[in-house]
Amino acid sequence: MQTGVNTQSPTAETSPSAQCIGVPRELFAGEKRVATVPDVVTKLIKLGFAVRVESGAGELANFSDDSYREAGATVVESAAQIWSQCDIVFKVRPPTSDEVAQMREGLVLIGFVWPAQNPDLMQQLAARKLTVLAIDCLPRTLSRAQKMDALTSMAGVSGYRAVIEAANAFGRFFNGQITAAGKVPPAKVFIAGAGVAGLAAIGTAAGLGAIVRANDTRAEVADQVKSLGGEFVKVNYEEEGSGGGGYAKVMSEGFQAAQREMYAQQAREVDIIITTALIPGKPAPKLITAEMVKSMKPGSVIVDMAAEQGGNCELTEPGQAVVKHGVTIVGYTDLASRLAKQSSTLYGTNLLRLTEELCKAKDGVAVVNMEDDAIRGLTVIKDGTVTWPAPAPKVAAAPAPKAAAAPVAEKKSGHGHGASAPLPAKTLVTIFAVAALAFWFIGAYAPAAFLGHFTVFVLACFIGYMVVWNVTPSLHTPLMSVTNAISSIIAIGALVQIAPPEMGMDGRPDSLIRWLAFAAIVLTAINMFGGFAVTRRMLAMFRK
Ligand code: NAI
Repeated sequence: MQTGVNTQSPTAETSPSAQCIGVPRELFAGEKRVATVPDVVTKLIKLGFAVRVESGAGELANFSDDSYREAGATVVESAAQIWSQCDIVFKVRPPTSDEVAQMREGLVLIGFVWPAQNPDLMQQLAARKLTVLAIDCLPRTLSRAQKMDALTSMAGVSGYRAVIEAANAFGRFFNGQITAAGKVPPAKVFIAGAGVAGLAAIGTAAGLGAIVRANDTRAEVADQVKSLGGEFVKVNYEEEGSGGGGYAKVMSEGFQAAQREMYAQQAREVDIIITTALIPGKPAPKLITAEMVKSMKPGSVIVDMAAEQGGNCELTEPGQAVVKHGVTIVGYTDLASRLAKQSSTLYGTNLLRLTEELCKAKDGVAVVNMEDDAIRGLTVIKDGTVTWPAPAPKVAAAPAPKAAAAPVAEKKSGHGHGASAPLPAKTLVTIFAVAALAFWFIGAYAPAAFLGHFTVFVLACFIGYMVVWNVTPSLHTPLMSVTNAISSIIAIGALVQIAPPEMGMDGRPDSLIRWLAFAAIVLTAINMFGGFAVTRRMLAMFRK
């Protein structure tokens, strides 16, 4: 079912049929973000829309009224001129009751709404007969929805900012240094929860030169942690933590006890803990106890990103930075807003991508297509009817959970990091027996010419396997480009064709073949030298 939401704007500035997108100033105390930025305004106008921005809306994110005007927007003095006259309104925070009261019937509201936490707001919005697209309800597992995923972009900014807040409160360098005044050890950072925010924090802390460790209940993130320069610290208890849809589930008592033991050890060892653990719809799991805080070195820092959901640390005070037992505990709940220019730009771009999906005809008219999985997922109210919650997404980003949880039979020393379990001996013997039989069969019956090629092929597979397996995942892209460069060995074939007879080649090929060989040499040379040059530049990015 497709429903046009083309309620004509009485003030549409572009074409008579164009809808008007409005952006009011955010009213939430301390909120510095704005729902669109001048660069995005230009693109919205290209899509055929007219854009109105309330005066001062971008001020706290360093976007002046003039910059919006230059981009083609109309700057209006009051929010009322937006709520009562625009067709579509972009917002960051959920609207206040006052704002809802000013909204005109049929308006399309796009922004964070959090329907589960705000049932009263949902009723008020439905009563105004609005269509509401809650950006927080976007199905995150649909790959084509990723460009609109504002939760991800905000969590990424927040993870980065969490490390900056930690660095600000921490009295030492992050990277190790050898100076004339003595040796400085690198800071040790432990990240609890390697979702979007956690991964951004890992990348940032590793980039600053710290030793980074991370833990998550979902085993599938171990490779991502490693590829960002972190070390995945496993809990000594076998249980898959994926609850489907890329989110976690509540873990068993046995797992939680083993996890507490490991976290207590990390708390004693590290200087900084950044916690991001979250299970949607549940209070944040309490991972850092008061005892663990006490055991940390004086001057250590905890940044509790889950402060708003009750916090991952027992001593967190939401919205505050406090010092307890000599440890600074930062519980800010507005980390994205503390990097307002960056987060507004990313958020504005997410909303632009959503608008492109709503206006495929590029005619300045948005169409809310309820047949589209992504649009259906985030439409929480359609023409005054509550359509939340949408049917659960069918695609799970994680592998299916194992049937039952069982304690690890054998205790490993240290943290028991990462490596996947080896195959049982019986399976290995069977695989080898089958492979040996297959080789014997080929050796006995295949023609001799085939055997030569086959031997080279098997050796190539073996060497390729050993090379790729021993390269860390983050270096796979430079590995591919160097392999590509090496594949230019085909140049030898061209050289043979172009070589003069006195070099020992039989007969002189005709000139067409020689010209073709010349072209082949030129092209493979580009591939070869270009491949090596690209590899060098890529590797340079990994060097500190
Ligand atoms: P996410 O859902 O992508 O990541 C949460 C991660 O925690 C998941 O990987 C999950 O497997 C893991 N987890 C769950 N239970 C765990 C446990 N017991 N032990 C270890 N790991 C566990 O969420 P995202 O987007 O990364 O956000 C992380 C947190 O940051 C959330 O609490 C979110 O509300 C908060 N946040 C805070 C902001 C702020 O300004 N303070 C801004 C943005 C996000």
